[in-house]
Amino acid sequence: MITKGLMWSLVLAVAFVFSTSFAEEKVDAKKLFDNHCKKCHGELGKPTERGQSLGAPDFTDRKFQETIADAQIRASITNGKNKMPSWKDILSPEEMEAVARWVRVFKPRR
Ligand code: HEC
Repeated sequence: MITKGLMWSLVLAVAFVFSTSFAEEKVDAKKLFDNHCKKCHGELGKPTERGQSLGAPDFTDRKFQETIADAQIRASITNGKNKMPSWKDILSPEEMEAVARWVRVFKPRR
């Protein structure tokens, strides 16, 4: 007979295995952005002094967000653009995809 206690241990064991395997696979977009992009683009998407001097756009600007396509964001991250460095030798495809999506986090809400 399966006791309540045993059932709970099983449920917890399964939940634990799931949570650790997800944690390993998950790419932390915010951390990647802070590590690699923040120095020019700012933690909150507003270009830093350094970013401004290089011509970095303001990710919190509605016009920027509405006029740039996802494919363009990905292409510029992968290959670089003018003073913006290329990331393809530094980040994995999954990591580049994660930071590309993170750029949209700064889009102002209506
Ligand atoms: C050394 C400073 C610097 C760093 C670090 C940097 N960028 Fe940029 N980024 C720029 C500059 C400068 C531009 C403007 C390029 C232009 O339009 O001439 C830019 C533009 C962009 C654009 C707009 C591209 C376009 O096509 O208009 C995106 C998106 C972007 N950066 C994302 C990122 C992400 C994500 C990271 C981190 C992985 C990152 N940047 C790291 C300087 C930087």
